Amino acid sequence: MFSPDLLKDRNILITGGATGLGRSMAFKFGTLGASIGIMSRNERRLSGTVDELRKAGIKATYHVADVRNPDEIHNAADAIENEIGEINALVNNAAGNFISPLEYLSPNAVDSILDIVLHGTFYCTLELGKRWIARKKGATVLNIVTTYATTGSAYVAPSAAAKAGVLALTKSLAAEWAKYGIRHVAIAPGAFPTDGAWSRLAPTKDLSDRMLERIPFKRFGTHEELTDLATFLMSDGASFINGEAVVIDGGESIANAAQFGFLSGLSEDQWKAIREMTRNPKA
Ligand code: HXC
Ligand code: NAP
Repeated sequence: MFSPDLLKDRNILITGGATGLGRSMAFKFGTLGASIGIMSRNERRLSGTVDELRKAGIKATYHVADVRNPDEIHNAADAIENEIGEINALVNNAAGNFISPLEYLSPNAVDSILDIVLHGTFYCTLELGKRWIARKKGATVLNIVTTYATTGSAYVAPSAAAKAGVLALTKSLAAEWAKYGIRHVAIAPGAFPTDGAWSRLAPTKDLSDRMLERIPFKRFGTHEELTDLATFLMSDGASFINGEAVVIDGGESIANAAQFGFLSGLSEDQWKAIREMTRNPKA
């Protein structure tokens, strides 16, 4: 679908790029010519992923940093730029999340999610944005949010609030930084199984099956489907898309928000009976 050198001019920093969807984006972007820097807290996972990226012929490096710490982000950006050249694209993908009734949580648990998702995205964007503005060079920011960033969601309130903030940041800077040639886009994924997400959001088969049941296609998204979208949004093909969040969820959010979505469980016989009733109303 994409030409093999589509992203050859991109030096992309992916936060949380050692695992899950971030890792899949690192491989996809790298395969299409981008140089990759990844950053997160766990050095073992970072170095393992960078080894594999390099084995696949991709120019890649990593630096350990917690996105809650602006000094660590600054040092990571310096170190990664020394290895792969000036970063000109940022994927704010790092996140923390787990399901819980809010009333069970301590203030520290709430802070942990808000700090990783909202503050972490702000700090990374600020660090790179200042560099891009000073260099007078354009750049792209891709923020990974969620479908519930617009609706809110029970049992993940800190994540929902933080992702809503990231969505607002995406739209705000799309307007504010376009004059610097900095483009902001977001992806709102539905359910894409990863170890990190499933261990914290669907830790039993029953919970995972219930998530599946909500999706009209009755299957989860594949990493390939997500990385194809990310590639397009990252590429020059999307150069006039700014401030938009693209939902990729197989129709899950629409199906479950719509008033009559619950009818999907009716049998043929029930529909037959309903057809008679609605064609010949008694009143
Ligand atoms: C209740 C919890 C908890 C849990 C941690 N805490 N896990 N409370 N239920 N499951 C509390 C701790 O007791 C502590 O509070 C506070 O949260 C901070 O915990 P730490 O372990 O010290 O924090 P930290 O090491 O910073 O770890 C952050 C984390 C962890 C978010 C808690 O899960 C993590 O590292 N996650 C990173 C990866 C991740 O979450 N991936 C999933 C993304 S999926 P006290 O008061 O005891 O000190 C996603 C999309 C979802 O975002 C959509 C899918 C469809
Ligand atoms: P994941 O594998 O757990 O990815 C999260 C990454 O963030 C990890 O690599 C983690 O690495 C990193 N991270 C967490 N806290 C960090 C911190 N303080 N500093 C730096 N890095 C940190 O989960 P995923 O499913 O791939 O999620 C990736 C993104 O997609 C997230 O933004 C998530 O909200 C979003 N998303 C996922 C789904 C889904 O179905 N999977 C759905 C909607 C949205 P370390 O722990 O090593 O730091």
